Amino acid sequence: MRVGVLTGGGDCPGLNAAIRGIVRKGVEVHGFEFVGVRDGWRGALEGAVVPLDVPAVRGILPRGGTILGSSRTNPLASDDGVGRVRETFAEYGMDALIAIGGEDTLGVAAALVGEGIQVVGVPKTIDNDVAGTDYTFGFDTAVNIATEAIDRLHTTAESHTRTLVVEVMGRHAGWIALHSGIAGGANVILIPEQPFDVDQVCAWVENRFKIRYAPIVVVAEGAVPKQGQMVVKDTSLDEFGHVRLSGIGEWLAHEIADRTGKEARTTVLGHIQRGGTPSAFDRWLATHFGLRAIDTVKDRDFGTMVALRGTDIVRIPLAEATAATKTVDPALYSEFGVFFG
Ligand code: F6P
Repeated sequence: MRVGVLTGGGDCPGLNAAIRGIVRKGVEVHGFEFVGVRDGWRGALEGAVVPLDVPAVRGILPRGGTILGSSRTNPLASDDGVGRVRETFAEYGMDALIAIGGEDTLGVAAALVGEGIQVVGVPKTIDNDVAGTDYTFGFDTAVNIATEAIDRLHTTAESHTRTLVVEVMGRHAGWIALHSGIAGGANVILIPEQPFDVDQVCAWVENRFKIRYAPIVVVAEGAVPKQGQMVVKDTSLDEFGHVRLSGIGEWLAHEIADRTGKEARTTVLGHIQRGGTPSAFDRWLATHFGLRAIDTVKDRDFGTMVALRGTDIVRIPLAEATAATKTVDPALYSEFGVFFG
């Protein structure tokens, strides 16, 4: 059997560990051949396919990023996208494909399965927002990076008696904000799932100052204030000429400074959360997912995704994993409210 492997969407630490697990077991245990599909679904669409064998995966376990490249290309948005993916399968003799990705990449995989294309999914993303799996790899590394940043920000915030706002990734789900905020002892944590009240945030900030402690506010990039509280003061154009609002972190620091009369600054962690070497947990999870994904191909159990449930790796339908975003439960969020302010 010849198996294609692709990595799609935003990269994350652990992708190379997953590729290595797939190829090592696929070649050494199942006797499969592999090809690498370049840059996510773009390679499947354009026939950008490279050799992939055991020597190619040597030494990649601790490396961040992905040796196969990634993109956010959606083949279903192209003319005859499904037909072109089929052509790539035929041209390179691919019998099956393992798609390693987040919601979007796996959503395409689910749709292609409906067209008779043989795909197995592996969930990854720093955001941890793929349904059906307790964790995705990449998340633990991102949380560790954000936690270290928060630890460092505490000492400089205290020295200058100012509020420091830390903006972390997470457009639709606040998992990184919640986990790193709790691990780093933040005083306020704001997530996309729950619109926040700026007055309440400022009250928490003031409260911290009263006990001579400089507040740390962790805000997910997708968090929004309650309706009517955001007056956009600052816009700029991005490289495509689209209007881009300044990030929520920057907006919030200005707002806190205006309302409390005390200094506030913002740190946007951005892609630092996605780059570099994976944590030990992410290496383990990615490797385990990789081993189970190639077994899934061997069993011809297409249309499924490997997932972590408790301490078990299970298979679930791709359709189930892509039906909804896994967001933070409001009850879980409010349980940690005792640490706010
Ligand atoms: O989905 C992963 C993620 O890192 C999100 O947290 C973030 O919003 C987005 O990707 C950023 O994507 P880009 O690679 O386009 O900057």
